[in-house]
Amino acid sequence: MLFWAHTLSATLLAACFFSQTYPLPLTTQSVLKDRPKDARVLILGGGMAGVIAAKTLHEQGIDDFIIVEGKGELGGRMLSHRFGAVNNQWTIELGANWVQGTQTGDGPANPIWTLAQKHNIALQSSDYFGNVATYDASGPVDFQDVFRQSIRDFQSLTAVAGARVPHSLVDMTARSGYALSGSRPVTAHDMAAEYYQFDWEFGATPEETSWLASSWVHNRSTPGDPASSDEDSAHNNTFRTFSPSNLLSTDQRGFKTLILDEAKTFLDPEEQVRLNATVTTIHTSEHGVTVVLEDGTALVADYALCTFSLGVLQHDDVRFVPPLPAWKQEAIHSMAMGTYTKIFLQFPYRFWFDTEMALYADPERGRYPVWQSLDHDAFFPDSGILFVTVTGEFSRRIESMTDSAVQTEILSVLRAMYPNTTIPDPLDFYFQRWYRDPFFRGSYSNWPANFLSEHQTNMRANVDERLWFAGEATSKKHFGYLHGAYLEGRDIGLALADCMQGGDCFGLEHVDRVRTARPYDIV
Ligand SMILES: Cc1cc2nc3c(=O)[nH]c(=O)nc-3n(C[C@H](O)[C@H](O)[C@H](O)COP(=O)(O)OP(=O)(O)OC[C@H]3O[C@@H](n4cnc5c(N)ncnc54)[C@H](O)[C@@H]3O)c2cc1C
Ligand SMILES: *[C@@H]1O[C@H](CO)[C@@H](O)[C@H](O)[C@H]1NC(C)=O
Ligand SMILES: *[C@@H]1O[C@H](CO)[C@@H](O)[C@H](O)[C@H]1NC(C)=O
Ligand SMILES: *[C@@H]1O[C@H](CO)[C@@H](O)[C@H](O)[C@H]1NC(C)=O
Ligand SMILES: *[C@@H]1O[C@H](CO)[C@@H](O)[C@H](O)[C@H]1NC(C)=O
Repeated sequence: MLFWAHTLSATLLAACFFSQTYPLPLTTQSVLKDRPKDARVLILGGGMAGVIAAKTLHEQGIDDFIIVEGKGELGGRMLSHRFGAVNNQWTIELGANWVQGTQTGDGPANPIWTLAQKHNIALQSSDYFGNVATYDASGPVDFQDVFRQSIRDFQSLTAVAGARVPHSLVDMTARSGYALSGSRPVTAHDMAAEYYQFDWEFGATPEETSWLASSWVHNRSTPGDPASSDEDSAHNNTFRTFSPSNLLSTDQRGFKTLILDEAKTFLDPEEQVRLNATVTTIHTSEHGVTVVLEDGTALVADYALCTFSLGVLQHDDVRFVPPLPAWKQEAIHSMAMGTYTKIFLQFPYRFWFDTEMALYADPERGRYPVWQSLDHDAFFPDSGILFVTVTGEFSRRIESMTDSAVQTEILSVLRAMYPNTTIPDPLDFYFQRWYRDPFFRGSYSNWPANFLSEHQTNMRANVDERLWFAGEATSKKHFGYLHGAYLEGRDIGLALADCMQGGDCFGLEHVDRVRTARPYDIV
């Protein structure tokens, strides 16, 4: 059963209860009541969701907001870096790099694709399922048959999952799903091929991921019936709603230009943005919100819209006073944050594959498996830049190593891949430690088997009237993606504007307690 997030009596009760248990500091209380508000809305976080929420409020006639961002620049997980020796430098993307899905016919367009066109972002088509060179610890080895089989195995995984949905059969891990649909990888080649289909997309293993959600969000198989049939429309995910194509940004201003330039169209950087402003505490009461920054500054407003990543919420980097209600905490901790780490190397010349992608099968699953060449006609020819991606546990492992230790491991893998080649010393080396970064704590959210639809509802719901949430992790259909963050910034921004302008504010519904369908039979 669903309950409204906010009722007047519940708020008063909560306020009385919490004012005893968790007293606000006296200064904060008096600030709340007596000080003029700094703005009507504080938008916490200036990534895609925060900037688009701001734009949405602006379009609804609400300009009295401030975006509060901890970094020195807007953009969040759109993060670029100047990389390479002085005479051969390139802008590379440490975070989001692809526009995933564009537009089919005159169907709905991916809003990131629309923004990219509006701001003339340089994009190149990227076909990472196409021509993939294969290697293992003994050098170049052709296991294309295994690679093609892994694509079919992923299709079976999604097909069998799809057949369970109409019968309301329970979710399991994608590992169980793979086994039940007949795929049980054993060799290093099997595991590397599966990794490419799965972990490389989700930033997490099949063991850590929901079978149904992973099947649903990455179902790239073409519907049997015309795309417009109701049933298939209900199956729309990123690739069906927009298109199956992926475009890689090669823009030397940085991919983030699309959001920075969009911000310039409506945002006053002096009045409406605070950069280098790290939020430490979010106080809420029936009067409004007080947001305390690291330097002690308090900002007072009627509403807060929190767009911090799921990882930030999970790590208690920001304190909520009163603490978030149990239903919100459970939602936050039942979803997972994946990690996806691109490790960049620049060499004096290219000695590697001339395809876009390569797959390396180490005896250890997930050890430096996916290689991507930027020194490629379509991207940065003669750049000498190659990068390798690791995910999940392996990302967290290398984040606690020194750069030089990681580089040493990678060079030894390259020597295994190219046994007869002298590998030159890299000219530059760089990777972003996403998990350790207190502004991110991982790369993007992932749906584990224990994350139920009701948890999803609760991830998204506001807490009472004052505190709202948006970001890639609150998106049911497009979590993990830039366009998920965009669409949530817009939809939650609209709901908040409605609430501010409509008088009675109920907000979004939540479920007070998420229950199993039947009692546990354990006695
Ligand atoms: C390595 C990597 C690769 C990716 N690849 C793609 C891709 O190719 N295509 C795609 O569509 N998506 C990709 N994504 C996902 C995409 O980047 C995200 O979904 C999207 O950028 C999230 O936007 P957001 O606004 O929800 O969150 P964020 O961008 O995280 O914005 C939240 C903001 O809050 C700020 N913040 C956090 N804590 C505090 C604090 N205490 N005080 C003040 N400010 C704070 C952060 O600095 C940040 O700017 C990738 C992500 C990563 C990390
Ligand atoms: C943010 O901090 C960085 C690093 O200290 C500094 O270079 C930059 O000028 C600051 N930006 C703003 C807007 O305060
Ligand atoms: C994936 O798409 C196919 C083709 O439309 C469909 O039969 C299957 O049920 C879908 N799977 C899921 C999990 O939606
Ligand atoms: C599903 O995608 C198709 C093809 O892009 C589109 O025509 C249709 O409107 C979408 N349906 C929904 C419910 O989004
Ligand atoms: C490396 O050299 C050895 C000896 O000449 C040869 O047998 C082997 O095929 C070569 N391997 C590759 C990957 O070229």
